[in-house]
Amino acid sequence: MALALPYNDGVTPLPPLLDSLGRPVRDLRISVTDHCNFRCVYCMPKTVFGRDYPFLPRTDLLSFEEITRIAQLFAARGVSKIRLTGGEPLLRHGIEKLIELLAAIPGVELTLTTNGALLAQKAAALHSAGLQRVTVSLDALDDTVFKQMNDAGCSVAKVFEGIEVANAAGLAPIKINMVVKRGTNDHEILPLVRHFRGSGHILRFIEYMDAGSSNGWKLDEVVPSAEVLRIIGAEFPLEPIDANYPGEVAARWRYQDGTGEIGVISSVTQAFCNSCTRIRLSTEGKLYTCLFATEGHDLRDLLRGGSNDNELDAAIAGIWQSRQNRYSLLRVAATPTLKKIEMSYIGG
Ligand code: GTP
Ligand code: 5AD
Ligand code: SF4
Ligand code: SF4
Repeated sequence: MALALPYNDGVTPLPPLLDSLGRPVRDLRISVTDHCNFRCVYCMPKTVFGRDYPFLPRTDLLSFEEITRIAQLFAARGVSKIRLTGGEPLLRHGIEKLIELLAAIPGVELTLTTNGALLAQKAAALHSAGLQRVTVSLDALDDTVFKQMNDAGCSVAKVFEGIEVANAAGLAPIKINMVVKRGTNDHEILPLVRHFRGSGHILRFIEYMDAGSSNGWKLDEVVPSAEVLRIIGAEFPLEPIDANYPGEVAARWRYQDGTGEIGVISSVTQAFCNSCTRIRLSTEGKLYTCLFATEGHDLRDLLRGGSNDNELDAAIAGIWQSRQNRYSLLRVAATPTLKKIEMSYIGG
């Protein structure tokens, strides 16, 4: 007799998926395009991502229906948060339609990470389609420094406008991500703190990571979160606060005077792999079980080859159950030279 695969009939709950280290799958990050309108120096340097860069052909991209089908299968297996990423996700034509489809999946929080350049234009439509929150990247308050970093001429004012329109549209609380690179924008930490303190937006500082193979990462350009906290705490005393949920990437701190909270993301100096519940789906339908993976697991052939939901679920379950990744914990001198996937391809 053939063994019945566990399949979500909508009545019987599926067993939660655990990987080989006992970690459940909770967050699905979906990259919807490998294109970006920025060329951030730590992510898509122009020298590599120029005119001749082999971006994915349009036919390779998963359709919105294909993405939604995978998302539904993950939701049945315990995923409770979906984040849309890119490249820059707002460049994907018709993104609102995808948001509508994903928002109809029960029990899943739906969020998006953007560079903010197109946010003012799109925020209301994103919210109406069912998006709950946005996270906006912003690496400096000073326009010259910001333009040097995004290398695409985008002004700070444009991103501020995006943040304010998104806030008014209801996509709050908004998180602002700053990647800190020593010698490039570390002097912008305090100006950003002074700007956002008391605004209700949550500023977060990300340690510059050895992601991808093209940013020329060097360890001495990483500003450890402990140093960031010292710099901020000297002007605005801070105290730690509890995580919002198990496995939260950012460690939370609040200003002692009650003017809000900040976060630090210490993927280099205090790796959080032991509680990592994230899986990433690339634009072309490959699953990556780690941000620093060198290979993905293709689902597109299964999707387009007529596999039913039981078969797709079994493939997904097998991929997660055999997961062993702990890159940031194991990071050694040689690993920055591995041929890793680019952040702009897998979405951070
Ligand atoms: P919320 O807690 O829901 O706001 O989301 P988040 O913090 O998981 O998402 P966000 O996209 O804002 O993540 C912030 C940054 O943390 C990413 O851009 C990455 O730089 C880094 N990051 C997120 N997940 C991982 C991870 O699994 N491993 C490592 N090494 N870094 C990660
Ligand atoms: N190190 C840390 N964060 C990075 N991001 C992109 N490249 C890097 C890197 N090398 C972040 C962006 C954005 C998110 C999508 O990923 O700033 O917040
Ligand atoms: Fe910058 Fe994000 Fe675009 Fe990378 S994907 S170049 S981090 S805006
Ligand atoms: Fe998760 Fe890999 Fe990041 Fe570790 S390095 S937290 S396993 S994505």
